Amino acid sequence: MSYDLIVIGAGPGGYVCAIRAAQLGLKVACVEGRETLGGTCLNVGCIPSKALLHATHQLHEAEHNFETMGLTGAKPKVDWKKMLGYKSDVIGQNTKGIEFLFKKNKVDWIKGWATIPAPGKVQVGDQTYEARKIVIASGSESSPLKGVEVDEKVIVTSTGALELGKIPKKLIVIGAGVIGLEMGSVFARLGTEVTVIEYLDRIIPGNDGEVARTFQRMLARQGMNFVLGAAVQTASATRTKARVTYRLRKDDSEHTLEADTVLLSTGRRPFTEGLGLEALGVRMTERGQIATDRQYQTSIEGVYAIGDVIEGPMLAHKAEDEGMAMAEIIAGQAGHVNYGVIPGVIYTWPEVASVGETEETLKESGRAYKTGKFSFMGNARAKANFAGDGFVKILADKDTDRILGAHIIGPYAGDLIHEICVAMEFGAAAEDLARTCHAHPTYSEAVREAALACGDGAIHA
Ligand code: NAI
Repeated sequence: MSYDLIVIGAGPGGYVCAIRAAQLGLKVACVEGRETLGGTCLNVGCIPSKALLHATHQLHEAEHNFETMGLTGAKPKVDWKKMLGYKSDVIGQNTKGIEFLFKKNKVDWIKGWATIPAPGKVQVGDQTYEARKIVIASGSESSPLKGVEVDEKVIVTSTGALELGKIPKKLIVIGAGVIGLEMGSVFARLGTEVTVIEYLDRIIPGNDGEVARTFQRMLARQGMNFVLGAAVQTASATRTKARVTYRLRKDDSEHTLEADTVLLSTGRRPFTEGLGLEALGVRMTERGQIATDRQYQTSIEGVYAIGDVIEGPMLAHKAEDEGMAMAEIIAGQAGHVNYGVIPGVIYTWPEVASVGETEETLKESGRAYKTGKFSFMGNARAKANFAGDGFVKILADKDTDRILGAHIIGPYAGDLIHEICVAMEFGAAAEDLARTCHAHPTYSEAVREAALACGDGAIHA
């Protein structure tokens, strides 16, 4: 009952940390209270939403593009229960995969919810375990919004949205962030009338403004309605209907909308309930995150924290990278995360992907930069595949040509962004990308063209 390391939470941060630590020779256990491993991401987040995005994208292709390509015949019908079944199968395959990896790497799964009664001790139920080091990777939960009563049936968070009994006729999404737009897309493609209410005057705050405006236009063309600059006041539900009231910020007027379902997606907050952090005396930030030093150690020696419970973007891959670095640090190596190169992806169609600085952050810091932009309309592969909407934008230092950031809206943007991430990791200049041979015809040529546009100009523009 004694371990080198006990990790609390088996989401992408926790399970990766546990596996890497075991690979580095430590005796490791991971505590997880859910029935299955993988945390929010695998069970009720990234993976199930991507399954539904994939299925509904196929439907969209069949409805809109098949006939043009000479693929005629009956239009597919949607069997929602079956689609949810497919989604559950995908979850099952992935969560079982982690169980297998735990066995393979000799990581013990302690089932239950953990408390830290004292440094070096983890309690699960009646059992107390000794641990030389403890890593908290307990993730996050949906933030509540005053006036909005979530019942996970009519007024739902992303968790309930992935399990709706039927496809709603009308859906109101509160918050035009990542969750709202991904889940809004799923239902819009299934024929739901979707209205997104957003507090700010723009969607996807934090992303490049030009990308956000283009993205909003594209989503509107796909049938999504937007009410911007609107603060939601209340959302209440009867058994089958919901009513949302909001105030327009420009004139303070109050409005009401009705729908069958309301999705609350106004952000997430660290999940630390039941860990006993207050009694232990762990220092927290003003925003309810666990405060850590640069090596992820909390204010208590030997107790560390990574992922959504600490500061930084709440992204599975950020947590994974911290998990890996954490394991290396505990094993006495030099673990490190480059926070300047963490991509962000929105898995709609088209996808939106970004890394590094935006034009807004560069203007704010006064750093001189240049922009290389290329439209997918100039990319033969994209045109052939009905994916000519969108662009790649690379931002590079005006004097040194070093790549500072990139923003892509277009086909498979979430995959394309990574060649720019690798380039940035190596401190590359835009010219380095521009001089790299890219296979033709591929979407990635658009990235090269944007890099060329940072210099003497793109060829196909
Ligand atoms: P978010 O932080 O991305 O967006 C929340 C939105 O709600 C913001 O635009 C905000 O201005 C708006 N808002 C806040 N209060 C409001 C109010 N009273 N009325 C109207 N609008 C209001 O949060 P979201 O989408 O809930 O996602 C939570 C976390 O999960 C994020 O950190 C996100 O990065 C992560 N996530 C990442 C995904 C990905 O990487 N593809 C997928 C899903 C979630």
